[in-house]
Amino acid sequence: MKPWREACEQAVRDFSDADSIRFWRVSHATPEGERPVFNYRFEHTLAVVKTARWLCPLVGADLDIVEAACWLHDCVKRLKDPSSKDTHAADASVKVPEILAGTDFPSEKIPAVQHAIERHVGLRLAKKLEPLETACLWDCDKLSKIGAASLIHFGCISGAFQPIDTATILERGEAWIPLAEGIVASFNTGPAIAEGHRRLAFLKAHYAQLRREWTDPMEGAP
Ligand SMILES: [Fe+2]
Ligand SMILES: [Fe+2]
Repeated sequence: MKPWREACEQAVRDFSDADSIRFWRVSHATPEGERPVFNYRFEHTLAVVKTARWLCPLVGADLDIVEAACWLHDCVKRLKDPSSKDTHAADASVKVPEILAGTDFPSEKIPAVQHAIERHVGLRLAKKLEPLETACLWDCDKLSKIGAASLIHFGCISGAFQPIDTATILERGEAWIPLAEGIVASFNTGPAIAEGHRRLAFLKAHYAQLRREWTDPMEGAP
């Protein structure tokens, strides 16, 4: 029986590598084969999984359910595809039994994985999500959008959507802050709320410093 984590990682890697190459319209030839310039989807997914491994023991959530949901929550999400409406949560949920079939994942936990994935979208919550595992996926997914790694992911992918420069990154980064505040106000779990505030302070400091360097050169420097 294939280990379920390996099966999940492979499924996400295969889909997102191919989609990244489609999206960038350029790739690198490597000894391992054709590789995308930057695989945003995989890097984001990895950040979400790492966060789950931190969060679940702190809140007593079932790590099998949350980690599988983290691996697969965006497993068929394509990078910017204006021709189709966004049904990626429902589409990913449908794929879950197929990807986990023949692995050592406990089959009785599959519906809980699907439940979490179906509810992970949106940047604000009107009320806390239940059960805990569904709440944890939301928190891990959104934490990944407001951390230090998110700045790298954002910077690396931005140029694929439009021509960018430092001033544009600064403008878009500052516009993201109110949305990040909304995310932090919506977190379900105590550790995510605390970590969210830490990351929000970091993001604000980062963009304040970038503005200081780029727009108001060295204001306040001796
Ligand atoms: Fe998603
Ligand atoms: Fe995501």
